[in-house]
Amino acid sequence: MAYVGHTVTCLDNNQERVAGLREGRVPFYEPGLKELIVRSAGRLHFAGSERLAEAVREVDVLFVAVGTPQGGDGSADLSNVADVARAMGCALAGSPPREFPLVVVNKSTVPVGSAYYVSTLINDGIDDAGGEDAKFRVASNPEFLREGSAVHDSLFPDRVVVGTDSREALDALRTLYTPIVEQSFPTEWDPRPKVAVPFVTTDLASAEMIKYAANAFLATKISFINEVANLCELVGADVSEVAYGVGLDDRVGSRFLSAGLGWGGSCFPKDVAALRATARKYEYETPLLDAAAAVNERQRRRVIHKLQQDLHSLEGKRVALLGLSFKPNTDDLRGAPSLTIAGALNSLGARIVGYDPVAAKAAAKLVPDIQAVLDPYEALEGAHAAVVVTEWEEVRGLDPLKAASLMRDPKLIVDGRNALDAAALREAGLLYRGFGRGYDKG
Ligand code: UDX
Repeated sequence: MAYVGHTVTCLDNNQERVAGLREGRVPFYEPGLKELIVRSAGRLHFAGSERLAEAVREVDVLFVAVGTPQGGDGSADLSNVADVARAMGCALAGSPPREFPLVVVNKSTVPVGSAYYVSTLINDGIDDAGGEDAKFRVASNPEFLREGSAVHDSLFPDRVVVGTDSREALDALRTLYTPIVEQSFPTEWDPRPKVAVPFVTTDLASAEMIKYAANAFLATKISFINEVANLCELVGADVSEVAYGVGLDDRVGSRFLSAGLGWGGSCFPKDVAALRATARKYEYETPLLDAAAAVNERQRRRVIHKLQQDLHSLEGKRVALLGLSFKPNTDDLRGAPSLTIAGALNSLGARIVGYDPVAAKAAAKLVPDIQAVLDPYEALEGAHAAVVVTEWEEVRGLDPLKAASLMRDPKLIVDGRNALDAAALREAGLLYRGFGRGYDKG
C-alpha cells in the first residue's frame, strides 16, 4: 500500500519486531520485501500496538491482519482478532467524533460470519468504555498472496475481493486499491501487461467464503493429482506427462498439478481444516474435503514406505532431508512435510540430517536430533538415502556424480517433488524413486 502511494503505519505488539522493521530488518525470509520497504520510505511507518488509539482517530482505513492459527478442533482460533477488535472498540469510544466512519477491513482469514462477530466485539469494546456513537464500518478483504512471491502477488494480483454491506467502506477500498486495480502506480519493477485487475465486490459472507473455497480447491487439486500419481505407479504411467496432458485443457489449467509430498504451509492445512470445522458446526458432511486431507496425509507416509522398500529397516540409517521449509523461497516451517517426515524417521531410529538454505537453524530447534546443515553435499555425505522435501534451486541443481560419490549404498534418492532428472541420477549410480513416475522412471 505504501509502495503504490498511500501513507501506511503498521502496528504490532511485538516491540522487537517493530524496532527491527524501523531499521529495515524483515523478520522472515521473503524475496523482494526489504527492497519494497526501502523504496516506500517516507510513507511507511512502524509502531507498537499501544498507538492503536491514535490510529483509530487518524486513519481512514484500518486493516486487521493478525494470525488465525488452527485451534484444537480444527477451527480457526480467533483470539487475536477478538483482542484487536475489542481494543479498537475501546479506542473508538474514547476518540472524538469522526467526520467519516473508520473502515475496519479484515484481512485475516476468518470463518464465514466472522465480520459480524468483529462488529459485535468492536461495539462491545465501545460499550465497555462507555462510548456511544459507533462510527465504523466493516469489510472483508481476503488475502491471496503466496509466500515466496508475496511482493509480486500483492502488486499484480489476479483479483481483489471486497465484501461489505456498507457503501462508504466499498468506496474507501475502491479508492485505496485504484493504483493496483488500474496498475497505474509508478514502478521500475516487472514489466506488466496493462490489464485492469478485477475488483470483485460481494457481501461479507461471500468474501470470507471465497478465501476458503480458493484454498480448499487448490489443496483438493493437488490431492487429486497425487491420487492420480499413486495410480500411475500401479499402472506404469508417468504423472508428469499425465498432468501436462490434462492441464492443457483450459477448464483444468496446468498450475497446481505437481504431484509429490503434498501441500503444507500456514494456509492450506489450516484453511481446509477450518472449512471442515465450519461444516461440522452446521452438521454438514464434507467427504470431498475429508478425502483431500486424507490423501495429503497419506502422501507423507508414502515417503517412509518408499524408504523402507529399499532400506528395509531404518534403524541407524542416515537419511538426508533436502529442503526443510514447506516450499522453496520461504523460511516458513508451519505445516512443513519435513517436520512430519523427520518425526516418523526419528521414531523408526534413523539418523536425520537436514539441509535448507534458510530454514536449517529454525528446523533444528523444532526437530529433536536433526543435524541441520547449510550445504546439500554435507547432508549427503555418508547418507544411505536422501529425500527431496523442498525443491529449492540448490536441490534441483544437485550434481548427480558428486552426490553419488558422497552417499553410501544403496544411494537412494526419494524425490518427493519429482524435481530431479531421474535418468541422470540413475546414470550416476544413484537409486531413484519419484512419485508416480511410471515403472521404469519412478
Ligand atoms: C497459499 C495460496 O496459494 C495463497 O493464495 C494463499 O493466500 C495462502 O496459501 P502458500 O501457502 O504461500 O499460498 O503456498 P502455495 O504456493 O500455494 O503452495 C502450497 C503448498 O502446496 C506447498 O506445500 C506446495 O509445495 C504445495 N504444492 C503446490 C504442491 O504440492 N503441488 C503443486 O502443484 C503446487
